[in-house]
Amino acid sequence: MAHAVMTPKLSLPPGPKGDFLLGSAREFARDWPGHMERCAREFGDICYYRFLHVPICQITHPDQIEQVLVRQSANFHKSRDYGALKFILGNGLLTNEGASWQEQRQLIQPAFRHENILAYGEIMADSTARHLARWEDGEARDLHQEMAELTLDIVSKSLFGTNAAHLAHEVGEEIAAVMERFQAMAALSFLLPANFPIPKTPRVLRSKKKLDGVVLSMIRDRRKNKTTGEDLLQRLLDAQDEAGRQMSDEQLKDEVMTLFLAGHETTANALTWTWYLLAQHPQAEQALGREIDRVLAGHAPTLGDLPRLPYTEMVVKESMRLFPPAWGFGRLALEEFELDGYRIPAGTNIFITQWLTHRDSRFFPDPLRFDPERWREDPVRKGKIPRFAYFPFGGGPRVCIGAGFAMLEAALLLATIAQRYRFTLAPNAKVTPLFSVTLRPKCGLPMVLHRR
Ligand code: HEM
Repeated sequence: MAHAVMTPKLSLPPGPKGDFLLGSAREFARDWPGHMERCAREFGDICYYRFLHVPICQITHPDQIEQVLVRQSANFHKSRDYGALKFILGNGLLTNEGASWQEQRQLIQPAFRHENILAYGEIMADSTARHLARWEDGEARDLHQEMAELTLDIVSKSLFGTNAAHLAHEVGEEIAAVMERFQAMAALSFLLPANFPIPKTPRVLRSKKKLDGVVLSMIRDRRKNKTTGEDLLQRLLDAQDEAGRQMSDEQLKDEVMTLFLAGHETTANALTWTWYLLAQHPQAEQALGREIDRVLAGHAPTLGDLPRLPYTEMVVKESMRLFPPAWGFGRLALEEFELDGYRIPAGTNIFITQWLTHRDSRFFPDPLRFDPERWREDPVRKGKIPRFAYFPFGGGPRVCIGAGFAMLEAALLLATIAQRYRFTLAPNAKVTPLFSVTLRPKCGLPMVLHRR
């Protein structure tokens, strides 16, 4: 007679006991990344705690991250804090789920093919040249602000074409106003039941109404005037599935808003931290300058030059290792599942943070050292480090759709600017990371400009 195999009941992962009522909410509110770091140190790669009543499982090992993002991805939706973003971005790619997300991803993906992104190289180069024309040797500027303005200009023109700059500017300002209030909304949406409406301030409601109005009128104008063009909006207007179906105006509005929001602040932060790191590592800065001078011989770079500028790309990669612009994100487990021999109940929020995994000495020797040479022989492709030891753009089906765009943009802007300028930190400048939706310097990045 066959015996039924009794599987032992698995336990929850270890973790801090926390307060009976609050869980780890106090530690979390005081210093979110610090709390996560301490948990990882004390309890290891997988640990479990509560934020008030909300269960959180934090994972830091690349294999566990791969399980959640790739192998078992069907068991997860985005974590509850994405609920706040949903108010602004509706059913755009970042916040959509299930079959609707899949259909949209298939429709939008072709616009981000390498050959299509190349069309934006001219906008990137032109915007940067115009921006640099405002700079003077020896002056001090907040480079975070500078990079934010520049990448906003690039995403606006890439999305809406070069003629709609004034409208795009309006959209940019309103989105910034809403995002200022996002953090509080995200914390609330994390705690409230899924269908509970998140309280919004009149300012946020006004911004949302205005944004919807501007973007919808742009879409309707385009449809009416039957324009053609290479901007992203036009590509999305033209996109159709095999049955010839196209996006509704409402869906298109959500996608445009999503690309607008997701498409500039992260890249601005990547460049900001790169300047910060280069200013402190003169050897890397000189190596970058030598490569640019040798390859470009004084010509302004284009996207076509990037394959001959490998060190430039290595600098961007290393900078995003130490300061990942998207420093962490979450998933919500739909069903109970097993991870590394532990039981993770349905409804648990899984926290994944590049900030911790990218700085793990098991995968990156001397992890706090800025060393672009780590990337000379691609260690992931060579099998020297696990696939998810480095994942600035996430991974699996929900990997960043703009990763190719962002890498080309960051490398091109780095080469164009570093060809003409180097920077030193302004005297008395204190630079501390702010762990907001993205990772940016708390009080900007005041730097002095030096013409090369
Ligand atoms: C350095 C720059 C960037 C970084 C570090 C970054 C990072 C990320 C990450 C980590 C995700 C996955 C989030 C998750 O799984 O929950 C993501 C998703 C996304 N990103 Fe980016 N991103 C960058 C630039 C861009 C750009 C330039 C665009 C568009 C122009 C963009 C559009 C999106 C969209 C639409 C998604 C959602 C994709 C989906 O779920 O299908 N991102 N990004």
